[in-house]
Amino acid sequence: MERRNVGILGATGAVGQRFIQLLADHPWFNITWLAASDRSAGKTYAEACQWRLDTPLPTRIANMVLQPNTPEAAGPDLPRIVFSSVDAPIARELEPKFAAAGCAVISNSSAFRMASNVPLVVPEVNAAHLEVLEAQPTRRAVNGSTPSGGFLVTNPNCCAIGLVLALAPLHRRFGIGKMFVSTLQAVSGAGYPGVASLDILGNIIPYIKNEEEKLQEEVGKLLGGATADAFQPAPIIVSAMCNRVPVLEGHTECVSVKLDKPATHAEVLAAWSSFQPLHGQGLDGLHLPSAPEFPVEYAPEEARPQPRLDLMRGNGMATTVGRLRPCSLFDWKFTLLSHNTVRGAAGAAILNAEVLAVMGKFDFRAFPPLRTAAQELVTV
Ligand SMILES: NC(=O)c1ccc[n+]([C@@H]2O[C@H](COP(=O)([O-])OP(=O)(O)OC[C@H]3O[C@@H](n4cnc5c(N)ncnc54)[C@H](OP(=O)(O)O)[C@@H]3O)[C@@H](O)[C@H]2O)c1
Repeated sequence: MERRNVGILGATGAVGQRFIQLLADHPWFNITWLAASDRSAGKTYAEACQWRLDTPLPTRIANMVLQPNTPEAAGPDLPRIVFSSVDAPIARELEPKFAAAGCAVISNSSAFRMASNVPLVVPEVNAAHLEVLEAQPTRRAVNGSTPSGGFLVTNPNCCAIGLVLALAPLHRRFGIGKMFVSTLQAVSGAGYPGVASLDILGNIIPYIKNEEEKLQEEVGKLLGGATADAFQPAPIIVSAMCNRVPVLEGHTECVSVKLDKPATHAEVLAAWSSFQPLHGQGLDGLHLPSAPEFPVEYAPEEARPQPRLDLMRGNGMATTVGRLRPCSLFDWKFTLLSHNTVRGAAGAAILNAEVLAVMGKFDFRAFPPLRTAAQELVTV
């Protein structure tokens, strides 16, 4: 696989730092462009960023200068692939500009997740949805215009990713009619500096703005179908309650599911342990560097999963499930744990990019070079 240049928009934040850590030695991608807010532009990464991860900041990245956050300012230095980790209002303004300039934008933000022509993807669950990106105006000539070739793909909310990995094997085998989920979300999920220590230490906050709504709507899109230019959400009734807890990393979720077909304890465990869907979607010809071998791992011990003990299963890319037991309201209940900045954010976007690379979606030869597209953008 050819090593491709990539950029990170929002490079200094909690997710941006995780992108840098995960991409530092990536065999397919090479970081050549970094941007954040206007406050950071012109500074070196080391000056602009409060590095908070437990591995050293790579020297090459520390010395890179943060660029202005527009495609036209980057000119020919703009990479064709941009990972985005900015807040939704900023993403809503900036991401379409990068797609219009000809970039593949792979976003963590909620801004376009539910758009009718934007794939919302967890590769093990719905990689086929990526084809819908061809319905985006930047991929098709409209009224004689030359499409830039750029596109926008999103990964879900950090809780939705861990959740659908556990749900997908059950939905495929037994069908899920309705479900209830109560979350215990880590403070790093609120970015840096995030929730004030005086608010969260020794405390639980039973409200995270817009989080329950996101979980409730994204599950249906993820577990549903897609045709060439539209999505058909799965008709699953989802009720979510979201809480912020004093845990550094790792979102825990307590889940109850109502199945369409009865399943035994052993059948539910078998559905999870045999779930290796990337091997069944024609994507196994090339080893995807970030894909965990087992996306769902069951922890049989009585009091697992726990953030301190299970966070890094599958290099932080696996959902750990435990405590499967009968539910007196629905059929089965269980607890899951997912790493919110790895599997729930940067790692999810990188895995999406790996799948897009294998699908040939980064082959931009049929489209104009980036610089032309960026210049066109300036003159519009
Ligand atoms: N944290 C998680 O676990 C998680 C999980 C899934 C999805 N997400 C999503 O990922 C996105 C980033 O979250 P985060 O936790 O990394 O937030 P964060 O720590 O607050 O980082 C925000 C980043 O956006 C940059 N930024 C601010 N204003 C900007 C502007 N006008 N133009 C360009 N960049 C700008 C900041 O740069 P400066 O340093 O210059 O201010 C910083 O790099 C959000 O949409 C969030 O919902 C987060």
